[in-house]
Amino acid sequence: MAYAYLQCQLPSPLSFLLSALFLLLLPFSSSADAGFSGINCLHPEILKDEAVARLVELGKVSDAEGYLERVFQSPASVRAGNLIRTWMEDAGLKTWVDRMGNVHGRSEGLNPSEKALLIGSHLDTVVDAGIFDGALGIITALSALKVLNINGMLEKLKRPVEVIAFSDEEGVRFQSTFLGSAAVAGVLPVSVLHVHDKSGVTVQGALRKNSIEISEENLLEVKYDPETVWGYIEVHMEQGPVLETLGLPLGVVKGIAGQTRLKVTVKGQQGHAGTVPMKMRRDPMAAAAELMVVLENLCKQPEDYLAYDGQCLESTVQSLSGSLVCTVGEIWTWPSASNVIPGQVSFTVDIRAMDDLGREAIIYELSRKIHQVCGERSVVCLVERKHDAKAAACDPELSLKLKSAAAAAGGRWGVIDDNGKEESRAVDEVAAAVPVPVLMSGAGHDAMAMSKLTKVAMLFVRCRGGVSHSPEEHVSEDDVWAAGLAVLAFLENTTLSPHLSNNYE
Ligand code: GLV
Ligand code: MN
Ligand code: MN
Repeated sequence: MAYAYLQCQLPSPLSFLLSALFLLLLPFSSSADAGFSGINCLHPEILKDEAVARLVELGKVSDAEGYLERVFQSPASVRAGNLIRTWMEDAGLKTWVDRMGNVHGRSEGLNPSEKALLIGSHLDTVVDAGIFDGALGIITALSALKVLNINGMLEKLKRPVEVIAFSDEEGVRFQSTFLGSAAVAGVLPVSVLHVHDKSGVTVQGALRKNSIEISEENLLEVKYDPETVWGYIEVHMEQGPVLETLGLPLGVVKGIAGQTRLKVTVKGQQGHAGTVPMKMRRDPMAAAAELMVVLENLCKQPEDYLAYDGQCLESTVQSLSGSLVCTVGEIWTWPSASNVIPGQVSFTVDIRAMDDLGREAIIYELSRKIHQVCGERSVVCLVERKHDAKAAACDPELSLKLKSAAAAAGGRWGVIDDNGKEESRAVDEVAAAVPVPVLMSGAGHDAMAMSKLTKVAMLFVRCRGGVSHSPEEHVSEDDVWAAGLAVLAFLENTTLSPHLSNNYE
């Protein structure tokens, strides 16, 4: 086969195929003949049909009945890793699992000693998750590599390409996020191995249960030498409403907000709900409720608190006003019975902002207020910092390459006519008119940890209603396809010699 999609590289306009154009194309995806041009260039059978089927299949791999939950090293996460490994092999990649449970698939190409392109995302999920967060980035990368493999291009890569399905990005089990990618980047503190989950199992113990031996001595074996890595890219659902509002399927990311996770513990006097007069109580539940409202007010109007004290520059306060978000997502009480005034309440606080200094100022102000409120209520409060990640900037040059790849994907669509055949217009000309917006990310991503190792870039994919961390999250089949095509174009442009990416024969 004289590879069809190369001819689609021929260059040419239109804006990135919006839904209407997709609809026009769809009827032709199964009926077009197997020629070298037209809809076949877009590989719908791999980049769309198979990719979507795999997302659905992976979305069924859960530890819970009736909803999706796959936390670090759980039985379902091991099953998911095995499934991803078979898909890596199907794409022609050599696979292995490292000591932090990350699943790797690599093709060395022509020059194994060249710096490698890494592409990744995470295989763990939140509790009651959707099927796209994390999985989309892994599956679109594997689909694009499968297309190259089928076309005999995998062994002609001018640099190694490696897909990594990271074992933990959400941090649900241990509250310490990026266990997988931080280990690869070499920034995971060894102390994390001894952090334990709610049932007392440590990170080390969870890995050992799955026959993975990790110790303080060998943790660094997971780390990559920066000299061996060219860059890292990650495809991820947007998890927000911007692309949908713009009516565009793909965007690139400029930077990722920094984040801190705290655990606040409030200790009071446990007692009988019927006998202790209200004025004589030291109730940690009521104190925790007041603290949550304090947090909400602080994060809604940071300018009222920070500017007044002169703690921050005006620019920091402005940046916070635009990007600061704070969440209490989990609460535990002891002994948790309706007729008992609790003795202790703990809750999590998740704080994110684009400005790292501003985030620190908020944490300082929150801690000050927590101790003030707790003093007034005669309860004892403890604030623990469980996780910190600085804001990460994406690399401008790599992002530009990803942007061009997203535009090229739009260009390829743009030259397919209503009959599924290639038009005479040049793909480049079409691609040049494809808008690919630049977005900020409020969500955390493995790219944050990987930015400590190498230059990073991210591609965001439109999702319905901006909803994520919910079973309602949805990326349309066509947008999965668009993302796969963009990764394919990126691979062609950065890992194949021009004569190959312009002529697969
Ligand atoms: C990960 O999804 C996070 O941003 O919490
Ligand atoms: Mn994610
Ligand atoms: Mn997530």
